[in-house]
Amino acid sequence: MPSSESPRISPAPEQGTALSSRVGYVEDVAPGHGTLPPRAWYAASDAPSLSLNGRWRFRLSPTADAEDDAFAAPGYDAENWARVSVPGHWVLQGHGTPVYTNHLYPFPVDPPRVPTENPTGDHLYVFDLPADWPDRAAGGGTVLRFDGVESCARVWLNGTDLGEFKGSRLPHEFAAGHLLKPSGNVLAVRVHQWSAGSYLEDQDQWWLPGIFRDVTLLHRPAGAVLDFFVHASYDHTTGEGTLRVDSDVDGRVTVPGLGVDVATGEPVTVPVRPWTAETPVLYDGVLATAGERVPLRIGFRTVELADGLIKVNGKAVLFKGVNRHEWHPETGRALDLETMREDVLLMKRHNVNAVRTSHYPPHPAFLDLCDEYGLWVVDECDLETHGFVEQDWRDNPVDDDRWTPALLDRAARMVERDKNHPCVVVWSLGNEAGTGRGLTAMAEWIRDRDPSRLVHYEGDIDSRDTDMYSRMYASHAEVESIGRGLDGGTRKRRRLPFILCEYGHAMGNGPGGLADYQRIFEAYDRLQGGFVWEWIDHGIQDERHGYAYGGDFGEELHDGNFVCDGLLFPDRAPSPGLVEYKKVIEPVRIEGSGADGTVRITNAHDFADLSALAFLWSYQLDGESVDAGALPVPELAAGESADVKLPPLPAGTRGAEGGWTVRAVLAADAAWAPKGHEVAWAQLPVTERTVPKVSATARPVSRDGVITLGPGVFEARTGTLRTVGGVEVTGLRLDVWRAPTDNDEGASWQDGLRYGPAWRTYGLHRMRHRLDAVEVGDNALTVRTRVAPAARETGLTTVYHWTCDGARLKLAVSVVPEGDWSVPLPRLGVRFGLAGSADRVRWFGGGPGEAYPDSRSAAVLGRWESTVDALQTPYVRPQENGARADVRWAEIGGLRVEGDPEFWFTARRWTSEHLDEAAHRTDLVPGHAVWVNLDHGQHGIGSQSCGPGPLPQYVLRAEPARFSFVFTKTS
Ligand code: GAL
Repeated sequence: MPSSESPRISPAPEQGTALSSRVGYVEDVAPGHGTLPPRAWYAASDAPSLSLNGRWRFRLSPTADAEDDAFAAPGYDAENWARVSVPGHWVLQGHGTPVYTNHLYPFPVDPPRVPTENPTGDHLYVFDLPADWPDRAAGGGTVLRFDGVESCARVWLNGTDLGEFKGSRLPHEFAAGHLLKPSGNVLAVRVHQWSAGSYLEDQDQWWLPGIFRDVTLLHRPAGAVLDFFVHASYDHTTGEGTLRVDSDVDGRVTVPGLGVDVATGEPVTVPVRPWTAETPVLYDGVLATAGERVPLRIGFRTVELADGLIKVNGKAVLFKGVNRHEWHPETGRALDLETMREDVLLMKRHNVNAVRTSHYPPHPAFLDLCDEYGLWVVDECDLETHGFVEQDWRDNPVDDDRWTPALLDRAARMVERDKNHPCVVVWSLGNEAGTGRGLTAMAEWIRDRDPSRLVHYEGDIDSRDTDMYSRMYASHAEVESIGRGLDGGTRKRRRLPFILCEYGHAMGNGPGGLADYQRIFEAYDRLQGGFVWEWIDHGIQDERHGYAYGGDFGEELHDGNFVCDGLLFPDRAPSPGLVEYKKVIEPVRIEGSGADGTVRITNAHDFADLSALAFLWSYQLDGESVDAGALPVPELAAGESADVKLPPLPAGTRGAEGGWTVRAVLAADAAWAPKGHEVAWAQLPVTERTVPKVSATARPVSRDGVITLGPGVFEARTGTLRTVGGVEVTGLRLDVWRAPTDNDEGASWQDGLRYGPAWRTYGLHRMRHRLDAVEVGDNALTVRTRVAPAARETGLTTVYHWTCDGARLKLAVSVVPEGDWSVPLPRLGVRFGLAGSADRVRWFGGGPGEAYPDSRSAAVLGRWESTVDALQTPYVRPQENGARADVRWAEIGGLRVEGDPEFWFTARRWTSEHLDEAAHRTDLVPGHAVWVNLDHGQHGIGSQSCGPGPLPQYVLRAEPARFSFVFTKTS
């Protein structure tokens, strides 16, 4: 269907709106009027264009109708107006403030009415045409394009009202040529923060009004390209691609690399290399009409639903995806090209192969990058009406025919804009909009316009309108039962593949449980992977708080730091969650026991062979590499495995803990990472660690109020450790508290036990330590205590047993729970303070980053060094962080600690209590001590800030436990 038949914009404002007719369009359910039909977007052609981005004059009014439209007339004096950057959001440029809500509308729900308080930004830009701009006599015209304006804009050019539009993250074009003059053109844009369109844009994000994407003037020469649709399919049985470019304006299509030169509308079949996210082969071509040459980047690929699976080029794909909102901590959803590229490169470098553009079509340049570097894209429409859930979905616009033209307009603007991208394999109708006829109409329109892609919508639980069963935050057990086909559901749904369009809620520390999900995805064909929620924290750079989140701007309704739930910190530094995800989804599996001298390599790509990778081995003894080399691995095809022989064990390995590390790295520079970039790795242990043995030969001596045991000095009355070899140690005792993570806190709507609140109710943040006995024996100092919260009868009987061989001081801790412990423990270990001068940390264990029981896949066993500050993970809302896993020994502040068994190591310049109190990182003030936690156990992390909690195997139950540490002074 040519774009001229796309749903047209209803010109007539709805009856019955109460705003003055001058601004009646604001509350009109119609998408707008005066705009041109939607069409394919392309960055450049040989037709001239002029960017109107820049510093615009700006005036903010409190209501939609506070000012008349005199400002739009040429000659209006706006000299005393402020200036803002376009693209930009005025609330991030000193005018008004941002508002964050998850699903609550920050205004009364009375569709399509909006509040009288409706911040309205008048924008003015005066521009000249470049000297070589074709004059009118040359024919053709000029189009004025807005790529994104939130939420409703009215546009005047040289005093003439062009029309108005809604649909914030979608392009809108006006015919403008007849109004242009060589110089002094006045473009006036009135932008209203709230409009009927706001009801359709209730995504979980900041409300950020403004002209936040490019504004461009496009010359349209006579005979220019109008709309065109590149159909480029691939037949995997023949290895041939078929290209047909339908164009509203006839012309020719050339693809020199394929020897193609055909008329528009004419199919041509040639041998090609197909496009996939793993092998993003693009052929450069040109669409030439009488008046314009448009460059094409053509990727041949066929998407289909076959055998109940999502297949591309005949093969089922496994999505290892992320949900990406557009975000920059200074400019909000106004992103420059470099930021978009950084996102794509970071994704590729972390083994991510798919993006869901939650929850609106991104800046179109992002899709060019996905074509180029290779990412599967689920392109989602700018539609969410989640706030209607508060009234049981009554009056939901998606089930009210009056809104259907607006919904179809959004669907068309997305599909027409993005249809020529090979990366887009699935259209998504929107997010969390309930159910209704409007959605069905969108799905039908999309299928009719573009049968070459699949349709997604998570809210369609019966999959009536969709090609896949999609859910968010389903538990591991449920996903597994869906994999087994035991989930029931409608007949249609039972035959469809499954994706988790959101899972692994990456809010704060976490998510935990990703590896467990991945194992399930890989075990069942029907499960085609998922998309972690979400890519980046939407923290706003802020002088007061470092990064601001909901509530920091005095919003009366807000959802706090729920807006900071990404795998990247706001500055795009990868969080441990992303490093974990990279490991979990690596496209090569390296497995084996290490001891038998072979390693099994599996190519877990869906398409690519292993020719891009080189394999390396190294052998470590006690965490230090003693030998290394290249490992020849056959160029396995996707899905194949091979057993590869490792070299003979290096000599002299006795007595030390030893093992192989095998890594797959890029063999040559790739477009997205340099040669040597690590793609996958595994460690295969060979010889076991010898745990420290301390024979209890030294005698405790009690004199002058102190007890001395080898290098240890204790207070005689309390048995409290004071110094080890002269190094001061304060407050060493059992510790069970951690500053609850966002995932510990859980979401208010969760049914299950929410650990953070339960721990506080139980009083685990205010444990009391009762001293029962200090026993000085022949070869040991034993301190007996009971550790318990006020107001509870439960407790932990805790015995500290100190022994020494003359040089090394050993602490054996035994913990026996008493009473009915119905909550797990946050952590179990000891903590103590060292002098604040302690800074350098060395350890042998998991690293370099943090790890927790269900987020530890990426911890590499080795020797690591850090500073105390660098051990901290900068979660936007402070919370437990920074533990290093499987630590054999650690050195800090002049002390060396060895554990039996291995322990979790944490060190910070504040206590867990301070960490817990802090709302922002700027609240964390270093104290006089460095607090060290040596933990025998840590509770898992899970994903309960929106999804399921930790799996049972990661729950730290209060059970009898024994663990020990050996302290020595470092030299
Ligand atoms: C989902 C929603 C997302 C986001 C997420 C929680 O329900 O689709 O937009 O709100 O939960 O962070």
